[in-house]
Amino acid sequence: MSERYVTVARVGEIAEGGVKVVYVDDVPVAVFRVDGAYHAIEDLCTHDGGPLAEGVLEGCVIECPRHGARFDVRSGAVLAMPATAPIPTYEVRVEGEDIQVRWS
Ligand code: FES
Repeated sequence: MSERYVTVARVGEIAEGGVKVVYVDDVPVAVFRVDGAYHAIEDLCTHDGGPLAEGVLEGCVIECPRHGARFDVRSGAVLAMPATAPIPTYEVRVEGEDIQVRWS
């Protein structure tokens, strides 16, 4: 499949500190806004598939609502167990009024 940018939200739609979940090719993608920047990760905890967007966001750190694993939404890095694998991340760009993720 070729690489492309997919529009997932409009500018102004995601509040500061907020998140929107969008399905792209049946993959749940959580788009967070932190300090005015957008960060997109797969919305499936690598521990046991928890819905990360339903967790608590503190700064750039999201805590999984199931068992408390923590990830950096900028890099996908694991910051706390029980997860051990990073979350896939997606590059985000803003084109006019569209927020887009790079998808391949
Ligand atoms: S499913 Fe996320 S910590 Fe277990």
